[in-house]
Amino acid sequence: MLDVVNPRAGETLVVSGAAGAVGSIVGQIGLIAGLRVVGIAGGPAKCRWLTEELGFHGAIDYKTEDVEAALRRLCPSGIDVYFDNVGGPISDAVFSRMNNHGRVSLCGLISGYNSQEPLAAPRNYAQILMKRLNVRGFIIIDYVGPRWSQAVQSLYGWVKAGKIKYAVDVEHGLENAPAVLNKLFDGSNTGKLLLQIS
Ligand SMILES: NC(=O)c1ccc[n+]([C@@H]2O[C@H](COP(=O)([O-])OP(=O)(O)OC[C@H]3O[C@@H](n4cnc5c(N)ncnc54)[C@H](OP(=O)(O)O)[C@@H]3O)[C@@H](O)[C@H]2O)c1
Repeated sequence: MLDVVNPRAGETLVVSGAAGAVGSIVGQIGLIAGLRVVGIAGGPAKCRWLTEELGFHGAIDYKTEDVEAALRRLCPSGIDVYFDNVGGPISDAVFSRMNNHGRVSLCGLISGYNSQEPLAAPRNYAQILMKRLNVRGFIIIDYVGPRWSQAVQSLYGWVKAGKIKYAVDVEHGLENAPAVLNKLFDGSNTGKLLLQIS
């Protein structure tokens, strides 16, 4: 979040998959960096958690709301930074609201993982050209090394100071692994999904 998209205080950040393990932490790091943060997640309970518990400025329930209209309402100055965990139609809506010279961290494409077809490119790919967007892939293993311990130290400090809250969803039993894995796809997890096997 801090390295890939270089956020500046006062900018607007949109996070997809916002109530998940990655998205919920990304959004709160955005708040610490002084950004206006809007999350996109599935269902009213997750959206309430984002705004009422984590302090996001806004949340969009993509399952019931018109995402483009909600982005116009919640991001009146456009979007400077997008942290993408899902891809697909949600990202199409976000791209059309990006500001010139906006930055995108592409972290995940979960909306397409179960597709039989190759993953679709953004429908409005031309936005990258017209708005001179900087879109960068992010894979966590690139940060194994010195940055890893710095991150753990920062995160530990933020959790201790009450600036970052996290949710953990613990399931039990190796025999339940297939059903538990599917929680990532039906959205029935909130926060980090773990399977305890002993
Ligand atoms: N690049 C990396 O190094 C890296 C590392 C870890 C994870 N990731 C990626 O980051 C993303 C989040 O991972 P996570 O571990 O934090 O999982 P997570 O967000 O805790 O769980 C996955 C969430 O994705 C949402 N989702 C599922 N299908 C969707 C769809 N069709 N459209 C929109 N949202 C959908 C569901 O939330 P809703 O209820 O909101 O739909 C679900 O709870 C994934 O794409 C994952 O592959 C990348």
